[in-house]
Amino acid sequence: MLRLKPANTDDIEKEYLFVRDIPKDENGYINEYHGISRDDFVDALKTIIANSQGEMLPDGYVPATSYFLWNDDDIIGKLDLRHYLCDSLINGAGHIGYYIAPEHRGKGFGTRGLGLIADIARKVILEEEIYLRVHKDNPASLKAMLKNGGYIHHEDEQSYFVRIKK
Ligand SMILES: CC(C)(COP(=O)(O)OP(=O)(O)OC[C@H]1O[C@@H](n2cnc3c(N)ncnc32)[C@H](O)[C@@H]1OP(=O)(O)O)[C@@H](O)C(=O)NCCC(=O)NCCS
Repeated sequence: MLRLKPANTDDIEKEYLFVRDIPKDENGYINEYHGISRDDFVDALKTIIANSQGEMLPDGYVPATSYFLWNDDDIIGKLDLRHYLCDSLINGAGHIGYYIAPEHRGKGFGTRGLGLIADIARKVILEEEIYLRVHKDNPASLKAMLKNGGYIHHEDEQSYFVRIKK
């Protein structure tokens, strides 16, 4: 069964291995914990969980929840939801970031995972639409967005700015 579970201390061993292996930056999906040690991940996880409650946030950051995408007993993806937007997010990354591990790509998990987090976003975010951004050279992500009801609101040289109606 495919489900999203917020980052939590009970699952730390699997969460650790997954987060450690996400690249630093793939298509704009940023992982500040790439290559982190197991010891340091204890504090990182505390920060990740606190951020969800609006605590321990860097200046100018909004509350954000990190979810892991579980397929039965395995973590196959990570998806992040920013609870509302500030100017830099409106003109930038929007509400959602998402990542599927390379060995699980091309099987529909990105599309289904985005659908699951969009359902959560509909209940959480303050804005009328879910804001997303995708690099123009990332057709898989654009397709996943469009399949979840997204439409291209505008574009610049590098990116499409997609929105999904609530
Ligand atoms: C983008 C990403 C989440 C897609 O995950 P995924 O599990 O492979 O997505 P899906 O399997 O649901 O595929 C989505 C669509 O893209 C298509 N697709 C997959 N790889 C593709 C590629 N290299 N080129 C073109 N289309 C591609 C799929 O066929 C599917 O379309 P279809 O249903 O019409 O066949 C994944 O590649 C990833 O994590 N990339 C790194 C981080 C990232 O880019 N995050 C998004 C930032 S906006």
